[in-house]
Amino acid sequence: MPTTLRYALPILLGLAILCAVSYLLVSSTSRSWFEEDVRLRAELALRGARGAIAEAWGRGDRAALAALLTDITSDERILAAAACAPDGTTFARTADFPGAIGCRRFTSKSLGGSQPHIWNHAEGSVFLSALPVASPSGVALGVVGLIHDMSYVDQRDALTRKAALGLFGAMALGALLLTSGIARASWRRFRVELRSLIKGEPQRPEFHPLLQDVRELALQLAAETRTNERAWTPQRLRQVLHDHLQGERVIMVANREPYIHERDPNGGVRVLHPASGLVTALEPVMRACSGVWIAHGSGSADRESSDRHGRVRVPPGEESYTVRRIWLSREEEQGYYYGFANEGLWPLCHIAHARPSFREADYEHYRRVNQRFAETVCEEVDREDPIILVQDYHFALAPRLIRERLPRATILTFWHIPWPNAERFGICPFREELLEGLLGSSIVGFHVQGHCNNFLESVDRYLEARVDRERIAVVHGGETALVRPYPISIEWPNSWAQHAPPPAQCRAQVLEELGLDKDALLGVGVDRLDYTKGIEERLLAVEQLLLRFPQFRRRFAFVQLAAPSRTAIERYRELNDAVEQLASRINERFGYRAIILQRQHHEPPRVFQYLRAADLCYVSSLHDGMNLVAKEFIAARDDERGVLLLSQFTGAARELSEALIVNPYDLREASDALAAALTMSTREQAERMRALRALVSELNVYRWAGRMLTDAARLRQRDRLSHRLENGLSTIEGVA
Ligand code: F6P
Repeated sequence: MPTTLRYALPILLGLAILCAVSYLLVSSTSRSWFEEDVRLRAELALRGARGAIAEAWGRGDRAALAALLTDITSDERILAAAACAPDGTTFARTADFPGAIGCRRFTSKSLGGSQPHIWNHAEGSVFLSALPVASPSGVALGVVGLIHDMSYVDQRDALTRKAALGLFGAMALGALLLTSGIARASWRRFRVELRSLIKGEPQRPEFHPLLQDVRELALQLAAETRTNERAWTPQRLRQVLHDHLQGERVIMVANREPYIHERDPNGGVRVLHPASGLVTALEPVMRACSGVWIAHGSGSADRESSDRHGRVRVPPGEESYTVRRIWLSREEEQGYYYGFANEGLWPLCHIAHARPSFREADYEHYRRVNQRFAETVCEEVDREDPIILVQDYHFALAPRLIRERLPRATILTFWHIPWPNAERFGICPFREELLEGLLGSSIVGFHVQGHCNNFLESVDRYLEARVDRERIAVVHGGETALVRPYPISIEWPNSWAQHAPPPAQCRAQVLEELGLDKDALLGVGVDRLDYTKGIEERLLAVEQLLLRFPQFRRRFAFVQLAAPSRTAIERYRELNDAVEQLASRINERFGYRAIILQRQHHEPPRVFQYLRAADLCYVSSLHDGMNLVAKEFIAARDDERGVLLLSQFTGAARELSEALIVNPYDLREASDALAAALTMSTREQAERMRALRALVSELNVYRWAGRMLTDAARLRQRDRLSHRLENGLSTIEGVA
């Protein structure tokens, strides 16, 4: 049924009922008016002749009476008359008085009393009235029965009916036209609003309360759903992909590859898992989703382990997705990775007191490598509107470059490190191009709201773009990029923790390996050797602990697993030396190996062994987007033992409030926290660890990926709808 008719039908029905009721009311009222009119006419007609009639009747003069009655019928609306005796016999009548009606009709009613009595009865198109007649002495003689012509009433009735029908028709037509007009206008308006809603344009003020209500309802529903939500697992993430993305492949761009093929000294090839928060988080997601991970092939045996396109199926032995390796020349790697990404953007984004260096030549390499990755994305996609995940600060330009080639792609860019405030970001000579590059994304994600805010401020300050604070989005060059916080996490249950030996066994092995007493107290730190991690501050805090709390000397040892990182950069080499010297100095000062520095790459099973063995884990980053080591420590402790000390400058500190949160620069506070951790009762440890484990298990990496992919799918759905509307192919339009 057409939409207009659907809306008009109830109105028409209402109109019809209204017309019918009005017609009945009007017609019954007018009929009673006509009858009253007739009755009065009858009375009038008789009033003048009543005396003569009574006299002729009293005399028994039928002929005179008939003549008098004929006089009365000279009124064109009185058809016939008769003088009816009380017993129903006809005493006199006009010539055309119909025998079929007869006097009995008029006398069947009681005529008692001297009062004139009028009896009315409508019969077809005639109306009967009876008026009593009495002799001058007051003896009832009978009634004069009159037959009135009512056909004119019927005619007027018919006319009224016609008029009512005509009126109804006119009103119905009017209502139809009006409804259709309103429906069309509303539909047009609705489409305009819908389109602007889809495009993310600002709404007309009168829509705001409605939108507000809808949003609140959606938030409420989402909150309710969340509380009833089942846990996020790889299966659930797969389900999300299946439900929202028809199970399509995810194309991901990330500099670091999840599996590195390295040639070992014996000529064999071994597979390494890089020390990288990004890999920790994204590898399980890719295993769950399948697809392609486009990365820099950095391993010495990567080429020989891949096909001629640089593709290799991973994880080794349980192949479920593809790594597509991009080969970079030494100059490209130097300029793009070490130069612009890690000597420019990395110190720019971290408040860790390292001066960023921006060299034009490095930026040129950065631009070219971004271009190459964007081209590879286009080789890997199999549809015009794919979902593409771009990871981290190595690829700020890639979203725009991909958008130029695939205008209908849904590009989700996640920035794994902090975003600085606008003033700091402003020192980058390429700031506008970097922002424009990122705004090629459909969604730009950060770990925390604070980084989203800094990004919006930077856009506001350096670009000709509109920051929509209501929707938290940037509208730039006719495109909209949403800006969202998605706090990253780890897989849960954690496969490394699940496959690790029991904590007691880990502890015994680690203590033995390190040459420590069985009752030694052990602290652990696990990081890439990076100046943002606050490793020096961490060691200084241990020094303070031993100074201020001598009872821990020779009992407490802190083992630092430090994976060498970016050693081609001088600042990292300096850090390496500084940490080594600091550890030696502290150890000398206290006369024992209080700091055990292990500067080498450790594979995850080894890392988890240490995490399970330790009494405490200290994450002392000076500035960190999230920090997943903190979450890995929690995952490792299924024995609900161990204490997490966490820098307040990590994204993780916003979530993990049951950790001992410290300012790593404040050595007194940090050493107090170390002492508190070492003396904490097992009960308190268990209570805190239980709460932390409950939180990380819920807010795991499948949820992180699931939320991002759901948002991406929703956005793509809107884009598809908007695309159809713009091409005039909207199926909805047909309904109207
Ligand atoms: O935090 C940014 C990041 O890319 C992380 O994802 C990862 O932990 C680290 O840097 C790895 O650095 P790289 O790939 O340079 O070794």
